[in-house]
Amino acid sequence: MPAVEMEGIFKVYPDGVVALRGVTLRVEEGEIHGLLGENGAGKSTLMRILYGEIKPTEGRIKLFGREVNFSGPWDAIRHGVGMVYQHFTLVPTFTVLENLYLALLPLNPDITPEEVRKLAEKKMEETGLRVPLGEVVENLPIGVQQRVEIIKALLQNAKILALDEPTSVLTPIEVEELFKTLRELKKEGITIIFITHKLKEVKEITDRVTVMRRGEVVGTVNTGEVSEKDLARMMVQREVVMSLQKSPANPGEVVFRVENLKVRDEAGIEAVKGVTLELREGEVLGIAGVQGNGQRELAEALAGIRLPHDGRIIFEGRDVTSLGAAERYKLGIAYVPDSRKVGLVGDMKIVENVILTNLPRVTSSGRIMWDAAESLSEEVIKRFDVVAPSVKAPIKHLSGGNQQKVMVGREIVREPKVFIVAEPTQGLDIGATEFIRRTILNLRDSGKAVLLISTDLDEVLQLSDRIAVIYEGRIMAVGRPEEFTLERLGLLMGGVDA
Ligand SMILES: Nc1ncnc2c1ncn2[C@@H]1O[C@H](COP(=O)(O)OP(=O)(O)O)[C@@H](O)[C@H]1O
Ligand SMILES: [Mg+2]
Repeated sequence: MPAVEMEGIFKVYPDGVVALRGVTLRVEEGEIHGLLGENGAGKSTLMRILYGEIKPTEGRIKLFGREVNFSGPWDAIRHGVGMVYQHFTLVPTFTVLENLYLALLPLNPDITPEEVRKLAEKKMEETGLRVPLGEVVENLPIGVQQRVEIIKALLQNAKILALDEPTSVLTPIEVEELFKTLRELKKEGITIIFITHKLKEVKEITDRVTVMRRGEVVGTVNTGEVSEKDLARMMVQREVVMSLQKSPANPGEVVFRVENLKVRDEAGIEAVKGVTLELREGEVLGIAGVQGNGQRELAEALAGIRLPHDGRIIFEGRDVTSLGAAERYKLGIAYVPDSRKVGLVGDMKIVENVILTNLPRVTSSGRIMWDAAESLSEEVIKRFDVVAPSVKAPIKHLSGGNQQKVMVGREIVREPKVFIVAEPTQGLDIGATEFIRRTILNLRDSGKAVLLISTDLDEVLQLSDRIAVIYEGRIMAVGRPEEFTLERLGLLMGGVDA
């Protein structure tokens, strides 16, 4: 009997995004079922529906043959669904035991911490999954915190355990341990849904796999009967990519060079593991890859916000590795981060947001010249087609597309030599997307060097003169777009040499 049947699931988010379009997922009891897909395919949305966190717009869910209709996660937990998210839900300052106690209390108000300890010890014995009950959670390595999440779900009596990209936060050794655990849980009869974009992991750990693309299921296959190539093709296959009118690139000198760059993330784990790249005037170099493969750390290191611990960054022949953001900025390196929440201050006026990165242009002996600031902002609004009542309006009153135009435009008016831009069109409508993409191409045509970091494969294919594929902090391959078939891109993005 299938443990999970999700049928005809549609999900339209309140902002109108259609995340799922009639998804059917069938997971057999006791199997490890992979859920594979690019960014934005709808995997997390589907799992949040299964966990009762959000409601489907349409569709039915059955667990072990019985229809369910969850009012919230606790309802799903009571029906035997466990979820391990990428971002853990533990209280960091509490001990492991305190966290487990908190997780069991709503299910059994009379339970005591001592009873939880006994249950936890028994569960650890049964599954071989060890966690230090007395330790404070925030002092534990990520891999152990994840184990706490799994134990927690098991103590809550999960029969179905879904893990959303569980390996993205783990070291290779921790991944092996996780896989051992999952095999052990499978023996115990637990049904596992394993979300990933890594092809090798699908091959290694899953029995069957469902591939999703753009809110739809491409197919469900027995893992043993398909190759990594087959999976890559299913994952990235698309209708012909809409092409933008684009003149041939006319690349000039190398302006920016990155040599063997290594960068750590907040947790101190190496996220960029030796990246070497060259960027020329008059070209767009696109970095393709699934989110979380070191893109943000790479971009921040290039912008001077994050210090690399090894390697060099050379700009116009000069080593700028140890220069901070302000100094690099003065040299002509501009950076647009992957999130408007990071790049803009919502409560501040448009003009204040524009001068955030343009202070030297509008200050004189330490004082802001507001006339100059306002006319610079007017220029941004005019050149980048921003719809706004006035430069004094708070930026949060603008639509996402107009905010993005301000964030991109305020860098371009500075005439940077190197333009580093991450996820420039995320969440924008078609009109704003086209405008921003066109802007990026114009910049390249005017001889600037553009480094485009995007998890949107269509965007990378449309804009790039050369493409570099990043996976787990390493560049898997660099080449002209013609050198990559979609299948090859899918393999590289999934971590398979091709
Ligand atoms: N809370 C939300 N509000 C609006 N749109 C969302 C929300 N969460 C996800 N989306 C959108 O739904 C689509 C599917 O996203 P998601 O389920 O996160 O995909 P995946 O996990 O496969 O990367 C994407 O277009 C994403 O931008
Ligand atoms: Mg996701």
